[in-house]
Amino acid sequence: MRVMTLKGRDFISLHDWSRDELAEVLELAQWQKARLKAGIRDEPLKGKQLGMYFAKPSTRTRLSFEVGIRQLGGQGLFLSAQDLQVRRGESIADTARVMSRYLDGIMIRTFSHQEVVELAEWATIPVINGLTDEEHPCQVVADLLTILERFGRLEGLKLAYVGDGNNMAHSLMDGGAKFGMHVVVASPEGYKPDPARVLRAQMTAAQHGGKVEVVTDPVVAVSGAHVVYTDVWASMGQEDEAEKRKAAFAGYQVTAELMRHAAPEAIFMHCLPAHRGEEVAAEVIDGPQSAVFDEAENRLHAQKAIMTLTMA
Ligand code: CP
Ligand code: NVA
Repeated sequence: MRVMTLKGRDFISLHDWSRDELAEVLELAQWQKARLKAGIRDEPLKGKQLGMYFAKPSTRTRLSFEVGIRQLGGQGLFLSAQDLQVRRGESIADTARVMSRYLDGIMIRTFSHQEVVELAEWATIPVINGLTDEEHPCQVVADLLTILERFGRLEGLKLAYVGDGNNMAHSLMDGGAKFGMHVVVASPEGYKPDPARVLRAQMTAAQHGGKVEVVTDPVVAVSGAHVVYTDVWASMGQEDEAEKRKAAFAGYQVTAELMRHAAPEAIFMHCLPAHRGEEVAAEVIDGPQSAVFDEAENRLHAQKAIMTLTMA
């Protein structure tokens, strides 16, 4: 039944999808992953075309969407913003309407979140957010899948995010809140997540038995956490601020010492790409608690489920 309601939907923000809808994604992702591992080939998107619009670099997102759509029986078209007429000023509205005449879905990675919203307003096909400056919802579906696999549940788990209050922090707050998790973000002053998004996530968390908090001290955040998450200090587009940010985030590195404050069974997570020796110590990301490559793999399964539900 729910599959019907998701057909044609955009996937721009975790906030836009209900807990039940996101649970449907996780369930389908687990089912499709198990079928793939068993060597069973399903092709619910046979003949469908996914446009993959990239205005920023990517390794995981590009690979997982392209391989994912192929495994589902469809095809992916890599579209660099550099080579599209948008670079010469063609509007997003016209681009969306043209793309809708050829494609069955659009995945977009760009800077402005508003651009994705506008693309979706004009497109008549589903639009999937592959990262904006504000959000990274596909990554968080993969992360929730990874946490679910490791712990068998999401509700009641504590997730500590240490570092920049960026797109990852925002989407982790949204996703954790929907599943009744306790999400604590620890960031230095000046780099905390957007207060409006924090408030929105806190209201969502309250409806689902969870909690969202923002603190300054990483030890407070990590204390008793089941998941310790971090991300780069300078995101794509912030390269010029890298040196300034290195200074601001001193003391926010996820070290083995910081991990000792987490629960004994805690896992370490990072969306990647990572900078060893900056936001995370090599011994943590390459150590036994690290789940980073499971997260990367789960991008494939999570996005296949999203594409199936919205495009089949
Ligand atoms: N985590 C992630 O989105 O990686 P890419 O930038 O390589 O796509
Ligand atoms: N915050 C990072 C995430 C990369 C997947 C960035 O936006 O560059």
